[in-house]
Amino acid sequence: MDHGSSNGSGERDRFEPSGPLTGTLTPPADKSISHRAAIIGAIADGPTRVINFLDSDDTRSSLAAVADLGALLNPEPATYMPEEFTIEGVGPGGPRSLGRIDVGNAGTLMRLLPGWIAGYEGGLWRMNGDASIRRRPVDRIADPLRLMGAEIEVTDGRFPPIRIDGRRLTGIEYELPVASAQVKSCLLIAGLRAEGPTTVVEPLATRDHTEVMLEAAGARIERSPGRVTVWPSSNLKLDEVEIPADISSAAFFLVAGAIVPGSEIVLERIGINPTRTGILSILRRMGAEIEVEPQDTGSGHAGGGGEPIGRVTVRSSKLRATRIAGEEVPLAIDELPLVALAACFAEGETVIADAGELRRKESDRIAVVVDALRDLGAGIEATADGMIVNGTRALRGGTVNSHGDHRIAMLGAIAGIASRHGVEVIDMKAASVSYPGFAADLNRLT
Ligand code: S3P
Repeated sequence: MDHGSSNGSGERDRFEPSGPLTGTLTPPADKSISHRAAIIGAIADGPTRVINFLDSDDTRSSLAAVADLGALLNPEPATYMPEEFTIEGVGPGGPRSLGRIDVGNAGTLMRLLPGWIAGYEGGLWRMNGDASIRRRPVDRIADPLRLMGAEIEVTDGRFPPIRIDGRRLTGIEYELPVASAQVKSCLLIAGLRAEGPTTVVEPLATRDHTEVMLEAAGARIERSPGRVTVWPSSNLKLDEVEIPADISSAAFFLVAGAIVPGSEIVLERIGINPTRTGILSILRRMGAEIEVEPQDTGSGHAGGGGEPIGRVTVRSSKLRATRIAGEEVPLAIDELPLVALAACFAEGETVIADAGELRRKESDRIAVVVDALRDLGAGIEATADGMIVNGTRALRGGTVNSHGDHRIAMLGAIAGIASRHGVEVIDMKAASVSYPGFAADLNRLT
């Protein structure tokens, strides 16, 4: 049975009910870490060898942006992403002044890159992206960057396009109003160029890939729970970054393996940084059988640039409902739509709360997930900051519109293979934002 054939236009793809999923897979490289490798590699003084960079629309946008800003890529990615390449960073000379930077669909690029360029006097940049990007707020970075002395104009007080006029920056201490790794990362990167130290205080722990990579590049970083300080530095040397597989991509198979009876899937070389593994603890609490064996702990500049890597095995089991709130939310923020799907196959009422940030993602992931799963037969309702799912241990099937959101497209596919009658996904092509080979990989396991 084919579980992901395209009709050629990328408009509608059908995912039929599947028997057990079995086999071993290495998902594509981590999107968050790839963006950071492109940006921090471009800031660095000298070459960075990048191994296993993610080949996806989003991360190609990052490479194109840093190349336009003056970083040299060798070899340059063409139709295929080279297995490894070097980024020759621009160093203390700073980025080239440019007319326009197009971030496409990449929110991480939109939020991190201004941190780099805002501190270079004499430069002028405009940043914009697709329709989804233009609906996602950037005042969250513009406000604190202005407190550091940056000159930034945003649209309607909140949104891209934005205009950045380089200015001299001064370090600040800033308490994030919402837990966001993107905002934290923007300010830490801006701090590299500021006068004096820059401190970010976060209400809840978020992914710390920027801190890990900056430390590997020799930046002075001081960390304590809920607080990170960076000191200015003009000669970062990243040397080498090997990017682990993305736990957010692995998560589609973790949930598929947990809900399709008889499944056993082994996922290799997964990034298991504890600020990203919320999905593992949530699924375990729901009763999923998940094993993690460390494969590597990247130390210094090798093996992930300090990022821990592991083999994750999932076996199907009977699931029960759970509650997700508070500090667990940022640790699984991109996987919460999948938690809602798993909850459809669990017994009891699952509550996801404190997750209003889901409304600020590539789509409004509360509204879109609730609509999609309800149309497939789920007992699910939206709340202001999350969802409530009444698990019935089954889904009927139907149609899922991805609304151009990669994670919703892939969610629809997993719902389809686990459903009774299959799911048709409208705009499956959106998956290429983070996982161009997703349908083929799913096919291999089914
Ligand atoms: C990301 C952080 C998260 C996440 C996004 C990637 C990052 O966003 O949802 O997909 O790479 O820093 P926020 O930190 O803004 O919640």
